[in-house]
Amino acid sequence: MLRGKKIVLGITGGIAAYKAAALCSGLVKQGADVHVIMTDSASKFITELTLQTLSRNPVHIDTFDERNPEVVTHIHLADLADLVLIAPATANTISKMTLGLADDMLSSMLLATTAPIMIAPAMNVHMYQHPAIMQNMNTLVSRGVLMIEPGEGMLACGYVGKGRLEEPETIIRVVHDFFAAQQQREEMRHLMAGRKVTVTAGGTIERIDPVRYITNDSSGKMGIAVARAAYAMGADVRLIAGSVQVPLPEGIDTVRVQSAQDMYEAVIGEWSHTDIMVQTAAVADYRPKTVHATKMKKNDENLVLELEKTTDILESLGQRKNNQFLIGFAAETNNVAEYAMGKVIRKNCDLLVANDVTIAGAGFGTDTNKVQIYDAQGLVEDLPLMSKDDVAFRLLSIAASRLNGVSAS
Ligand code: PMT
Repeated sequence: MLRGKKIVLGITGGIAAYKAAALCSGLVKQGADVHVIMTDSASKFITELTLQTLSRNPVHIDTFDERNPEVVTHIHLADLADLVLIAPATANTISKMTLGLADDMLSSMLLATTAPIMIAPAMNVHMYQHPAIMQNMNTLVSRGVLMIEPGEGMLACGYVGKGRLEEPETIIRVVHDFFAAQQQREEMRHLMAGRKVTVTAGGTIERIDPVRYITNDSSGKMGIAVARAAYAMGADVRLIAGSVQVPLPEGIDTVRVQSAQDMYEAVIGEWSHTDIMVQTAAVADYRPKTVHATKMKKNDENLVLELEKTTDILESLGQRKNNQFLIGFAAETNNVAEYAMGKVIRKNCDLLVANDVTIAGAGFGTDTNKVQIYDAQGLVEDLPLMSKDDVAFRLLSIAASRLNGVSAS
């Protein structure tokens, strides 16, 4: 899997830098072409010569040490990388990445690269748990940076806790899995090409009068991520967007709707020529029974709004299902597994994605999500906290595989 893969290995200045030698050696043994960039501080813990000997490539530290006049080294390394791996990643480097600083060879290359970035943090337990570092790591994850969480145990500083660089063998396995998943995405692209995917996103707006309405916290991020992922996988995508708080994706055919009834009509219009329907939208379960034509006046001390049920779009699709692959979402605050299983069966979904919206970084408005994917038999996958883009890719990979009768592992 690693044969011929170009990995730029960034080593930053913590005691765990010594483990980078074993990591570099292991990656090279698996066939990777490893190019090392060290920060100045890293070179205080481990020598350039060690990494040069193990990688069989020149090691880069100083941005201005340009040895080949034909290239600008940090841009050249940024462009050649199939993967940028930072191990160990110190608190300082993580924070610089978050801010987009470029004051040395590694940070400059990180800004210039479009390759996937994976980081393996290592630091003192209190530094790791510092709110600034936690926030910075969450920001990086939401931008798509892949995180290899540190292990727990005795730290070099004498503390016991979380902050130890993950073992080189584990990091190599994660890198291996990353390239395997990338290859699988390519295969999925093949399976998804030409498929018609309809996605709903955002919340609905249920009018009370011309100036007031009932809605919810959905930003549309999850649904838009699904639409973008399907589009990137080569599908023919139609997005049905309710109220959203983010820009709509360019290049994707989008229909705007307001109410649950509007969304129902738009979805039904797409249904007969849809292969995969993903109902990510947070649709109102109830709407005001009477919509006032003019602004309601403030008269009485109390006001009782009478609400009536909206049509359950997902449930009615489940009843009409023919060859379509139907995916629902469920926003839950408790008894997640039980409610998710109830919905997958009642609404006749092929898959149901449950998110516990009480978890930090999951659910409404966030760039990340933490979901469990169910089918009628039970749990299919329990995904870790990841960007909504990555959740979308994984979900669609499972759907495309099942639709084509191949394994999604
Ligand atoms: O938009 P974001 O800010 O990124 O947030 C994403 C999200 C939290 C909205 C999303 O991940 C999510 O969970 N969407 C489903 C929210 C929801 O309405 O859950 P529910 O359990 O109430 O509904 C279950 C399913 O039935 C959903 O697929 C929903 O679209 C569908 N439904 C619900 C009511 C209704 N009248 N018609 C429906 O089709």
